[in-house]
Amino acid sequence: MFEKIRVTTGIPYLDALTQGGFIKGTTNLVIGPAGAGKTILGLHFLLEGAHRNENGLLIAMQEPPWAIRRDASNFSFFDHKYFVEPEKVLMLDFTPSGWELWDPDSLTYTDESEMMIDAEGVPYDETSLPTFLHRIFYHISQVVEEKKIERVVIDPLAAFQFYDYGNDFGFLRKITTGFLVNIAALNVTTVAISEFPGGMDYSKYGEEYITDSIINLDMLSVRGEMIRVLRISKMRGTNHSTKTLRFAITNNGISFLDPEND
Ligand SMILES: Nc1ncnc2c1ncn2[C@@H]1O[C@H](COP(=O)(O)OP(=O)(O)O)[C@@H](O)[C@H]1O
Ligand SMILES: [Mg+2]
Repeated sequence: MFEKIRVTTGIPYLDALTQGGFIKGTTNLVIGPAGAGKTILGLHFLLEGAHRNENGLLIAMQEPPWAIRRDASNFSFFDHKYFVEPEKVLMLDFTPSGWELWDPDSLTYTDESEMMIDAEGVPYDETSLPTFLHRIFYHISQVVEEKKIERVVIDPLAAFQFYDYGNDFGFLRKITTGFLVNIAALNVTTVAISEFPGGMDYSKYGEEYITDSIINLDMLSVRGEMIRVLRISKMRGTNHSTKTLRFAITNNGISFLDPEND
């Protein structure tokens, strides 16, 4: 029998809804519109790891690490000590302005490094998405090994949109699968953040089919007031809550309103 080890999320009520959190070694998708609380959820997960002496890695693809730290600095659960030597939470800047992309030395990889994404049929040039993903995956795999990383947050996967493959969904799904499966093979527990384009209830990259769980965050307007809700729409191997639950973001981060009565 496989033993399911649970990895706590840093949000106690979310753990209670999911038999103790994410299953160790799985890839977990957090989706929702801009401002829904996705990045904050990812930070709860990483800081929780830091408290437990489990090292974390944030792969910043859109908002640069310094801005994420600045915005999170007021949260009671956020502790800057984990972000300085010897870091318990590492951040890699893969934003379009990020140093990892502009510093050629930081991206060197050897010819022996395994080609993780098959770019069959697609020009394999310096500016292609497979090349980008291959390089960042290689970089990530080294950091995970060197720093003994157990928790990874990818914020967000939508960086794939910087590359235009039109409507070649098959190709986009294939490389998204390759990327996420290869990260999972590093033996880490991953939170992948994603925004579905407006009006679409399925993604371009098929990440909802690949990942082991999906947490939907949403904002509703009820009588002129913004209400935040969370729903676990999928969690493989878990008897999870199926309710739509109200939550709030306060100086303590994400907390559930009146969890006993939901
Ligand atoms: N201290 C705070 N108190 C209350 N709400 C906050 C606080 N800090 C941030 N927020 C809310 O969190 C939102 C940002 O959450 P974030 O996780 O960055 O969203 P995203 O889903 O886009 O990643 C802000 O738009 C704001 O509504
Ligand atoms: Mg965000």
